[in-house]
Amino acid sequence: MTGAHGYSEYTTRLQALTTDVASGRPVQHDHLLASVDGEASEQLRQLVPLDYRRRVGAFFTPAPLKQRVSEMLKSGARSDRYLDPACGSGDLLLAASHALPIQESLEETLEDWTDRLHGWDINSEFVEAARLRLLIAALLRHGYENQSGWPISNASAYFTNISIRDGLEALRDQGAFVGHIVLNPPFSVISSPLSRAWTTRPTSAAALFTYQAAHHLADGSRLTAILPDVLRSGSRYSTWRTQVNKILSRSSLDTYGQFDEHADVDVFLLDAQVSRRERLEDSGEWWKTVGSVAAGSRSVNDFFSVRVGTVVDNRDPLDGPEFPFARARDLPPSGEISTPTRRRNFSRRVFEPPFVLVRRTSRPSTAQQQSRLSGVLVTGEAPVAVDNHLIVASPRDGSVKSCRALLKVLSSKSTSEWLDNRIRCRHLTVGAVREIPWPNT
Ligand SMILES: C[S@@+](CC[C@H](N)C(=O)[O-])C[C@H]1O[C@@H](n2cnc3c(N)ncnc32)[C@H](O)[C@@H]1O
Repeated sequence: MTGAHGYSEYTTRLQALTTDVASGRPVQHDHLLASVDGEASEQLRQLVPLDYRRRVGAFFTPAPLKQRVSEMLKSGARSDRYLDPACGSGDLLLAASHALPIQESLEETLEDWTDRLHGWDINSEFVEAARLRLLIAALLRHGYENQSGWPISNASAYFTNISIRDGLEALRDQGAFVGHIVLNPPFSVISSPLSRAWTTRPTSAAALFTYQAAHHLADGSRLTAILPDVLRSGSRYSTWRTQVNKILSRSSLDTYGQFDEHADVDVFLLDAQVSRRERLEDSGEWWKTVGSVAAGSRSVNDFFSVRVGTVVDNRDPLDGPEFPFARARDLPPSGEISTPTRRRNFSRRVFEPPFVLVRRTSRPSTAQQQSRLSGVLVTGEAPVAVDNHLIVASPRDGSVKSCRALLKVLSSKSTSEWLDNRIRCRHLTVGAVREIPWPNT
């Protein structure tokens, strides 16, 4: 029994729905439609505790994202076999089924889809739901009103390639898959020896699934994935990106925004083809899509030395001389201050004003919010100890004038747009601030 056992209440209802169709009992069309759409996620939230959902990263693909994936699968080279190695209740396999034709009869379609649709999940309840939902999708495509008398007892003979398995182990152990892997993997952070190629530390399960999926696919096969933005823009995944670049040739990479109203994490859509390269080559950073800095143009790094503040307040001992101490929560949202009033003893690196402080937490822009970033200029005389939730930009020419110019650059619309493309996760990196384009004057 898993932490998802409550979900069997929903699979029992799906089962009853298919039995009703087969025995010619009246069913509501809307009810059938809901069962292959958002209902499975809604039921997940109601029947499976949040801490378990978080632990195994169970967040099913919402309808608008499923629609995007469905369009991607229908464009470009079509596959005739699909695999979702962390299939949940089958939303991406349902998207894949839209790209498949139906046959003369329901039986023939079910046999055909059984050969073509493959999936694994560690939760038996989700696997059961995925199979039943695909059966309902086939019933809907054939016109369920004409299917009474269909032998429902045969249902277990179909979708047998969707089974209870650990997807990471199966990707590692099974022979190469020829076809199309669709992926919305768990985003939880886990420890695994399979991440050795880029880290020895705990890492995103999404990075592991993508890496294993790329290795598992035969040359020429395709991968379409919904992934957390940190894999695209976070500096700790730069080696991972280089490793993946050796196997995958990207066809498109679209930033999407927040996964859905229940999961506050920004995602992007990756569409790629497997093409193993003989020699090490780098097909470029993943965030260099639109609005990147043209070669030779100037950036913040040309005018400022950018670093993270050096004080870890709850860990660093209160020794050394006393300094004014800048913390994010004491600062105004933007503007200028002379010297922070809070003080603290500190024995390591402090910063000489003038400099600009930028908060490290930064959400992607929204329609209501004018600009994503703002800085606070510190103009006083005394050196300042700076908390590590702040980024410090010290002007290379030591002037307040340059700092004021930076405040303008940070709050400009073009910087917000550039930054939304460069990094959508909530923690700004020093690298991203250094690369902010500096306007030509
Ligand atoms: C983010 S959900 C996505 C489900 C489905 N792909 C979709 O798009 O709706 C991730 C799924 O991965 C499953 N999962 C977590 N760890 C797994 C593993 N090691 N192997 C297979 N499935 C796993 C969870 O049970 C959950 O159903």
